[in-house]
Amino acid sequence: MPSNDIKGTTALVTGASRGFGRGIAAALDGAGAAVVGVARDGAALEELRAELGESFTPVSADAADPTVAGQLIDAYRPGILVLNAGAAPLSRPLQHHTWQTFSRNWDVDVKQVFHWLREALLAPLAPGSTVITMSSGAALRGSPLSGGYAGSKATIRFITSYAAAESERGGLGIRFISVLPQLTPATALGAAAVAAYAARAGADERSYAASLGATPTPELAGQAVASLATDPSLDQPAYLLTGAGLRPVG
Ligand SMILES: NC(=O)c1ccc[n+]([C@@H]2O[C@H](COP(=O)([O-])OP(=O)(O)OC[C@H]3O[C@@H](n4cnc5c(N)ncnc54)[C@H](OP(=O)(O)O)[C@@H]3O)[C@@H](O)[C@H]2O)c1
Repeated sequence: MPSNDIKGTTALVTGASRGFGRGIAAALDGAGAAVVGVARDGAALEELRAELGESFTPVSADAADPTVAGQLIDAYRPGILVLNAGAAPLSRPLQHHTWQTFSRNWDVDVKQVFHWLREALLAPLAPGSTVITMSSGAALRGSPLSGGYAGSKATIRFITSYAAAESERGGLGIRFISVLPQLTPATALGAAAVAAYAARAGADERSYAASLGATPTPELAGQAVASLATDPSLDQPAYLLTGAGLRPVG
């Protein structure tokens, strides 16, 4: 199978301090990329640097800030850009949300992806670059205890495909792919959602989590993103990520 060598490529990963983003940063580092990890928790990023070494550059910043997006794209011109950072939604039924809590993932997740997609297209990143955005399986089915989360993740999938069309129209050669992970208790964000859905179903968390079957882990997310970045035959616009790996979204 043909494969792009990512040794020496600069990869920038948002939300690298824990969860999927940490697994993605570690996998890309392991594949030989120079990884820039962005998150607000500087101490967690320093821990990751101690683990990965000098090939990892920690940047403590708000990924939803448009100035941060512009500065980091200008400074690093990443060949692989992974827009993974996301806020944990408040787990409550619709009527217990305020507009502020409902729209949290629009203010963080969508805002981040919008600003970085613009910057990637305007720079533009080099031909052959890959931009991967983190949507969610919830974008396909909804997530009734998560306010505006599912809609925000559907919008991320849409605007990633809009960016892909702009890249095509402009002959830029930048790949734009969205990944839709299945709910997993393996990260802080996912564990909170599993706890809320288990309580709603009157089940204990362990048996509710078991009912989800094999779910993605940070290591699996890392392998999946590394293969999307290195394998040009993975050329679909969006992939579901389950415990069994990547599957194109129909
Ligand atoms: N876990 C699941 O079940 C699941 C399912 C589908 C999709 N997803 C998506 O996958 C992505 C990663 O989620 P996860 O489960 O790994 O969550 P997590 O463990 O809570 O990690 C979230 C990451 O995002 C970072 N982050 C949040 N707001 C940020 C901001 N404004 N600027 C920079 N970094 C920010 C956090 O770092 P700091 O707090 O240090 O800033 C952290 O590194 C999210 O987009 C999430 O919606 C998760």
